[in-house]
Amino acid sequence: MQEELKNIENCAIEDIKGARTSEGIDKVRVKYLGKKGELTKVLRGMGKLSAEQRPVIGKIANTVRENIEGSIASMINSIKQEELDDRLKQEVIDVTMPGKKITLGKKHPITQVMDDLISIFTKMGFKVAEGPEVESVYYNFDALNAAKNHPSRDMSDTFYISDDTILRTQTSPVQIRTMEKTKPPIRIISPGRCFRNDTPDATHTPMFHQLEGLVVDEGITLGDLKGTLEMFAKHFFGEHTKIKFRPHYFPFTEPSAEVDATCFKCSGKGCSLCKGSGWIELLGAGMVHPNVLKNCNIDPEVYSGFAFGMGIDRLAMMKYGIDDIRLFFENDMRFLNQF
Ligand code: PHE
Repeated sequence: MQEELKNIENCAIEDIKGARTSEGIDKVRVKYLGKKGELTKVLRGMGKLSAEQRPVIGKIANTVRENIEGSIASMINSIKQEELDDRLKQEVIDVTMPGKKITLGKKHPITQVMDDLISIFTKMGFKVAEGPEVESVYYNFDALNAAKNHPSRDMSDTFYISDDTILRTQTSPVQIRTMEKTKPPIRIISPGRCFRNDTPDATHTPMFHQLEGLVVDEGITLGDLKGTLEMFAKHFFGEHTKIKFRPHYFPFTEPSAEVDATCFKCSGKGCSLCKGSGWIELLGAGMVHPNVLKNCNIDPEVYSGFAFGMGIDRLAMMKYGIDDIRLFFENDMRFLNQF
């Protein structure tokens, strides 16, 4: 039996030396030390030995097992090292290769102009307010004093989701949402997307951006509106910019005006941008209609306010001299990278 054990040890060591992988080593372990392994088989036969022989053979068997386990362990170590070396060789990095360039993206020109506007107005004390793009007919039209027969309500002007839900046609519903939630003094701007049922052309896209402004407090006058817009125009277009008010109509303001600024390209002399007039249309504005204040439970006898709304896309077109609004939304990197 002693012979047999020595023999098993020798064979096992040979097998271990021949195993070149982790799986190979595992097979050897099972072959000799597993439940049906060769060493295990011999140990099972020990019951048949005499009482004197048993401890002697037992000791030898233990040594054999320890030797086999020891060489399995050291073989596993060297296989792991080899496998690691192999992997390192395969994954070798050539530090002399040129690196991958990470290109830094930039903001879309509309977002840049929107950020400019937000920065100008927040410096003047306005807070940014937001409202949903899917809006109720009540907030978009009724609460804003738009008569039931106002043409902007038409199917050909407005995207209806249901009879009383639409894609907002303007940012003005944010006026209502703000006045319902907060009591005066109110001083907010609300930039955001608007939607109108327009066929795309050089100056129209069915989705566009507006920035609304609203101030409500005691004693707010048209003079405050003019001062605010003049300050804005000078910041946005330059110190020499002048503005003028042209009478206009909006359901939710009274009186209402369209506001023009002196052309920033020719400083009012007349050029191709302003079509020779020296002025460019900037925005719509007016004093908040008493009915609108009443709709929001604000007493028009105590409070007054002004509102204005401008097209951000239009301002971006003017600022960058772009003659087709559709370019903004085609996502052509050659166009966008210029800003
Ligand atoms: N909402 C108006 C429009 O879309 C613009 C506007 C806003 C006019 C606020 C006056 C006051 O044309």
